[in-house]
This record gives sequence, structure tokens and C-alpha cells, in this order.
Amino acid sequence: MATFKEVLLEATREAGSIIQEYFQGSFKVGNKEGINNLVTEVDTRAETKIIEVIQKHYPDHFIISEEVGELSTDSAYKWIIDPIDGTVNFAHGIPICCVSIALIKDDAPIMGAVYNPMMNELFFAEKGKGAFLNDVPISVSAKSDFRKACLVTGFPYKWPDSTEHPIKVFERFILQGLPVRRLGSAAIDLCWVACGRFDGFWEYNLSPWDIAAGYLLVEEAGGKITNFNGDPYSVFDRQTLATNGLIHDEMLDIIKNKK
Ligand code: IPD
Ligand code: CA
Ligand code: CA
Repeated sequence: MATFKEVLLEATREAGSIIQEYFQGSFKVGNKEGINNLVTEVDTRAETKIIEVIQKHYPDHFIISEEVGELSTDSAYKWIIDPIDGTVNFAHGIPICCVSIALIKDDAPIMGAVYNPMMNELFFAEKGKGAFLNDVPISVSAKSDFRKACLVTGFPYKWPDSTEHPIKVFERFILQGLPVRRLGSAAIDLCWVACGRFDGFWEYNLSPWDIAAGYLLVEEAGGKITNFNGDPYSVFDRQTLATNGLIHDEMLDIIKNKK
């Protein structure tokens, strides 16, 4: 029987080939609740292939996938799938998008992969066994001077009910004079924290498929991930703060407006 890792990588690579084949080509583009919350026929094609690969090997496993929703079973193993994270980038021909797949057991991630075929970058992590970029071990940055940190964030299509408006939090980071980027793919944001390109990432209102694989990447690369109270993280949390660990408290203070 194929191992979890073999199945995860087969599904990830198959979806990556589909994404690459259509990238900057022609495909149908539709939208979900908001006119700019896009979904393309490539999201659906990639998702169908991923589910086919998983179900071929593990037909009794639970699946949560962005476009089809839940394919529920009573298994403790759940595959959490984002067939394209960064669909808006994909639809505009911007090569910052990826497939993101995680396997969780009893709601804790045990394996994850994030693949951006346009940049030929395959991130992989397994619980307790480290994080890798194209098979080379990666780790978070060693930057402890928060004043020199390089950060990344994202914004939701629908604004959450929040006493702390996300734009206000963004403003506070910018007013510190820090470089803050907005790539448009939460899964890539997390992987770029894991490999040390960014020192920290925060975002409101993400979904499990945006973060499940990247969450494990950050942890296995030696970083820290919590919600905005600083509590231990769950893939079902709606607030995400991921850092190299060294600037975590300073970022929390700014998010909570304690600075
Ligand atoms: C989106 C991306 C983006 C984040 C949005 C997500 P999608 O996922 O991760 O970076 O800011 O909140 O919805 O729609 O491209 O799969
Ligand atoms: Ca997503
Ligand atoms: Ca998506």
C-alpha cells in the first residue's frame, strides 16, 4: 500500500501539473460570494484530480476541500485541500499561487505539502521530521531585532466582525516603518516564513485549507504559530500569527495594540 507521503506527493504533483499547464493560458473564470473572490475551471480540475488520487489509495479517509466541501467518513484521518491557493493571482497570470494539501489526524497536522509549479518550489513537512524545500531542509530566520523584520499579510474578501479592523492593524505595522508585503497566497506566505524569507505573517479570517499545510511547515521549520491571543494554534482558528518565534511577542503586542 502507498504511504501517506507517496499519496500526498502524487496528488500535489498531479495538481501542480494541471495548474502549470493552464497558467497564462485560457480557462473559464467565475466568482463566489464576492465578485473578486474568484474560482476557475482549473481549481475544479486540480481538485478533482487530488481527490481521485487520495480516494484511489485511502477511500475511507475524510476529505475537506475548498470547492467541494466535506466528503465525510468516520475516519480520524482528514485530508485538507486547497487546489489553488492564490486563485486571483493565477487568474491574472501572476506566478504566486500553489496547491496546498495537508493530512491531519484527530485535528492535528501530520503531513503537508505546498507546491508552486511556476517557481518549481515544493515545500514538504512531516510531524517530528522537519521541513523541506525541494528536499533540502529549511528553517525559519534567526532575526531577533523586530525593527528589521520583513513581514507579510493578507486581507479577506469579506471583512470580519472585529473590534480591531484589519486595516488598523496593518497601519500600526506600517507606522513602525516595517516592510510589509501582500503576496495573495496564505499557503505561500506561511512557507516563506518557514524558509526564512519572511520573519512573520498574520492574517484574519483564513480557512483550514489556506493554512493546514503551511502551519506544519512553520512548526517543523522551528517557527511559532498561534491565534491572536497567543494560544496554541488549531487549523480551524480564524486568526493566524506565524513567526520565526523570536519576534512573536512583539507582533502580538502590535496586533493587540499594546505597544
Ligand atoms: C486566498 C489566499 C489569500 C488570502 C485569502 C484566501 P484562495 O485563498 O490565501 O492570500 O488573503 O483570504 O481566501 O481564494 O486564493 O484559495
Ligand atoms: Ca486559499
Ligand atoms: Ca483556493
